[in-house]
Amino acid sequence: MSGAVSTFVDKLRAIVGDKGLITDEAGKRPYLTDWRDAYLGKALAVVRPASTEEVAGVVKLCAAEKVAVVPQGGNTGLVGGGIPLEDGREILLSLGRMNRILEIDEIGYSMTVEAGVILKTIQETAAAHDRLFPLSLAAEGSCTIGGNLSTNAGGVQVLHYGNTRHLVLGLEVVQPNGDVWNGLRALKKDNTGYDLRDLYLGAEGTLGIITRAVLKLWPKPKDVATAWIAVPSPQAAVDLLSGAHAASEDNVTSCELMGRQGIDLVLAHIPGAADPLAERHDWYVLLEWSSTRARREGAKETGLREKMEGYLGEAMEQGLVLDAAIAQNETQARALWSLRENHTEASKKEGPSIKHDISVAVSKIPSFVTEGLAAMRKALPECRPVTFGHVGDGNLHFNCQAPQGWDKQRFNAHAPAISGAIYDLVVGYGGSISAEHGIGLMKVDELAHYRSSIELDAMRAIKRALDPQNLMNPGKIVRV
Ligand code: FAD
Ligand code: MLT
Ligand code: ZN
Repeated sequence: MSGAVSTFVDKLRAIVGDKGLITDEAGKRPYLTDWRDAYLGKALAVVRPASTEEVAGVVKLCAAEKVAVVPQGGNTGLVGGGIPLEDGREILLSLGRMNRILEIDEIGYSMTVEAGVILKTIQETAAAHDRLFPLSLAAEGSCTIGGNLSTNAGGVQVLHYGNTRHLVLGLEVVQPNGDVWNGLRALKKDNTGYDLRDLYLGAEGTLGIITRAVLKLWPKPKDVATAWIAVPSPQAAVDLLSGAHAASEDNVTSCELMGRQGIDLVLAHIPGAADPLAERHDWYVLLEWSSTRARREGAKETGLREKMEGYLGEAMEQGLVLDAAIAQNETQARALWSLRENHTEASKKEGPSIKHDISVAVSKIPSFVTEGLAAMRKALPECRPVTFGHVGDGNLHFNCQAPQGWDKQRFNAHAPAISGAIYDLVVGYGGSISAEHGIGLMKVDELAHYRSSIELDAMRAIKRALDPQNLMNPGKIVRV
C-alpha cells in the first residue's frame, strides 16, 4: 500500500472503525465479482458503514480526496453495476450492515427500513403484521432493498402492484458531497416541484447513496391460487392472461411464461425439481391469483382455486390450455414456483449464456417471440434459446445458452451479432433493451446506441448537475 493510500485508509478507519473496513485481498474478493462471475473489479478498500452518519462521513472524505464510490447491497445485480472498475482507484461501499427495520405503520400501511435490509426480511416482517410488501424475485433471500430501489427491480408481481418505483413513498439519500437529503416522507400525495425521489430510483448508485426508505404496504392476501399450465404457444399464453383478468375479478398477481428449454435445464441441474405434468410441452404458464377475501371452507369450498379451475376448464375447451395442475396447498405452490425461480441458477450451472432482459407490449409478445427466435438462430444457428419471464408485464428474459461444449470465449465472440439482432428487433417493436435489470456496465454502449440524443443529453446533464466530480459509481449507465 502506498503512503497516500494508507493515509486515506486510516481516515476511513477513523470513520467506520475496524469492523467497517476490509483491506485484505481475500476479504475484498467476494465484493469484487458479480453473481454471474462476469466482472472482476478492484477496490482500494471495502467499506461497511453502520449508519447514515458513517456513510455521509465516508462520502464526504471521498469527495475531498476525489475517490470514487461504488455502492453495493446484496451483489445480486446482473449487469455489473455494483462492481468497481478494474483500475482499483475506487472504494466499494457495502450497505450490508445497515440492516434494521426502523418502523412499521400498520394504520398508514408503510414500513421504514435501512438500505441494507434483505428483501425477504422485509416481506416476512410485513407478513407478521398482516401486511404485504409485494416485491418478489428469485434473489429475494440475498438482495437488499437499497439495491432493489437503485435498480428499480421488477420481479414476478409487477403486473398487479407495479415495479419498485411504485412501492416506495420516501427516501434518504447521501449526496455526492456527503450531505444527507432527508426525503423520508410517508406521503401518498406530494406535488412540490420536481420529484427528486424518482431520480434516485433506478439510478444504480450513480447519483447518490440510498440509506433509508419508506415503503408502501398492502393488505396480506388470504386466498391464493397457483397453477402450472401447458399452453400451445405464446399467443395462447397472452390470450389466457387477457381473459384471466376478468375471470379472476382482477386478482391476477403473477403470470410467467417459460419455454421447454428452460424447464429442461431446471430439471437437469436443480436437485428435487420435478415436472408437474405427465407429458412434455413446448410452452408453460405459471399463473397466480391472490385475493384479500378469505376462502369459505365447507362442504362446497369456494375460493380462487375453484374459480381458476372453472376458468382453465373453459380455456381448455377453447384450445388455449393443453394440460394444467393447480396447487392444492402452499407446499405444492412453492414447488411450482421453484421451477420458475431456478431458471437463472440452472442456466448458470449449464454454462455460458447471453441475457436479453427485454420488454414489449404484452399483446406483441407472440410475434416478438417468433421473430426473435428466428433472429437468434440466424445469428448463431447452433444457439440454444432459453425464453422465460414476466409475460404478464411484457418482460421476457430472451436468453441464449451457449451450444453444448462451447466455452465462454468462443461463445462471446458471437454476442454482438446475437444481441444486436435482438435489440434491433426490440426497438423496432417499441420495446426496451433493459426492462428490469438496469444498465450497469453491461449495457452502457447499448443505451448510448438505442436512446435518443435528447434522452442521453438529459441524463448526462442530470448526472453532471448532481455529481459534478463524477464520483458516484462512474462509468455506469452513462459516460460523462
Ligand atoms: P446490488 O447487486 O448490490 O447492486 C445493484 C445496483 O444498485 C448497483 O449499481 C449498485 O451500485 C446499486 N446500489 C446498491 N445498493 C445501493 C444503495 N444503497 N444506494 C445506491 N445504489 C445502490 N431483478 C429484477 O428486477 N427482477 C427479477 O426477477 C430478478 N431476478 C433475479 C434472480 C436471480 C437469481 C438473480 C441473481 C438476480 C435477479 N435480479 C432480478 C437482479 C437483482 O437481484 C436485482 O437487480 C436486485 O434489485 C439487486 O439488489 P442487490 O441488493 O443485490 O443490489
Ligand atoms: C428472473 O426473472 O428470474 C430474473 O430476472 C433473472 C434472469 O433474468 O436471469
Ligand atoms: Zn426477471
